[in-house]
Amino acid sequence: MRNKKRNSIRFDTDQIMRNIIKGNYRRIGSGTARRVFDLDNGYVAKVAKNNKGIAQNKAEFEIASGRRCRLFARVALTTKDYSLLIMERAERINSMSDVLQYFNVRDNNQLFQLKEFENIPELDLCIADLCRPVNWGMIKNRPVIVDYGFTYSVKNKYYHKQAFRF
Ligand SMILES: Nc1ncnc2c1ncn2[C@@H]1O[C@H](COP(=O)(O)OP(=O)(O)O)[C@@H](O)[C@H]1O
Ligand SMILES: [Mg+2]
Repeated sequence: MRNKKRNSIRFDTDQIMRNIIKGNYRRIGSGTARRVFDLDNGYVAKVAKNNKGIAQNKAEFEIASGRRCRLFARVALTTKDYSLLIMERAERINSMSDVLQYFNVRDNNQLFQLKEFENIPELDLCIADLCRPVNWGMIKNRPVIVDYGFTYSVKNKYYHKQAFRF
């Protein structure tokens, strides 16, 4: 029963929000759009600060559901309004060399030519963002992408400069 442990966790999002407000969880990250808290059970909560955060939670939820891709940290659930998203927690990595080493490639160019990455363009993700170690982490010694809500369509809608694909 490989899934037993994962499925046995039940999340009460109202309770989680109350705990966040009380300061009961350690904050492990904060970007322009979301704050990220360690729920101390193998998961993190990503809380939107604004519309950009809502859009990124929604994009992450949509990318994570509907595919069983091991490249992305799994999303357990979101609230209906996407203000809160629960994701598997990954260990921080300091350099892309951890990712390159795992996939046995020399550089980012080679990395994104691997079969595992072939659907990145159709997911509307920006490869330049995925070359940054802050957007990656390790789960059970395997590299995973933890920040994948910043799609071109989110960028173009919520951030001023036009984002070009390359
Ligand atoms: N699943 C995760 N596990 C561990 N740390 C995470 C996870 N998701 C995000 N973080 C940490 O929180 C930071 C901010 O989260 P991120 O998803 O990048 O939000 P933002 O949309 O605000 O950039 C990340 O840079 C990373 O350090
Ligand atoms: Mg980020």
